[in-house]
Amino acid sequence: MTEKNIVDQALKQGRSSILVGIATLFFGFIFTIQLTYYPSVFTSEGDNITTLDTVNLSLGTMDLDPAEIQDGIHLPTGMIVDDGVDVVINTCGACHSLDLVTQNRADRAGWKDIIVWMQETQKLWDLGASENVILTYLSKNYAPEDTGRRRNLEGIEWYQFN
Ligand code: HEC
Repeated sequence: MTEKNIVDQALKQGRSSILVGIATLFFGFIFTIQLTYYPSVFTSEGDNITTLDTVNLSLGTMDLDPAEIQDGIHLPTGMIVDDGVDVVINTCGACHSLDLVTQNRADRAGWKDIIVWMQETQKLWDLGASENVILTYLSKNYAPEDTGRRRNLEGIEWYQFN
């Protein structure tokens, strides 16, 4: 190799190093801008947490809004407000309307049967420590009414019988 060739070679290498450097700086710059101003590009907000996770996380931590309670009834759900109502709303409202709960009456064993039935046939999960709270709440507030007679029917549209 002549001296000129060596110098040429060195210049070429120098130039490509500079190009690589500039390219690195350029993409680094773009990346930084994106990370700073559009961080959503790098997060997976589309990934949904499953209902189950949400339910378990929020178990018992929900505070009812006092403005939504009237005469001891939580208006949005129709549930009687008492100890454990938040657990019941979170747990039992996860799959179906809470009307299914408020329309039923049973003693503690009866409610336990309903829960076991849902666990065996409707994929209701093991309620763990919540079960006791839920059963106490339900058997106290949605116990069989033994007034000797069913309540009067209300709000029924009767057929005209011609
Ligand atoms: C994993 C989902 C799920 C959860 C959570 C759940 N249920 Fe249910 N439940 C069902 C399904 C499904 C049915 C049947 C609905 C239907 O027949 O339309 C049902 C039906 C019912 C019924 C009606 C039973 C009957 O005789 O027809 C009652 C009462 C009830 N659930 C109470 C509860 C209570 C109380 C809780 C909370 C401890 C609860 N559910 C939580 C799935 C669930």
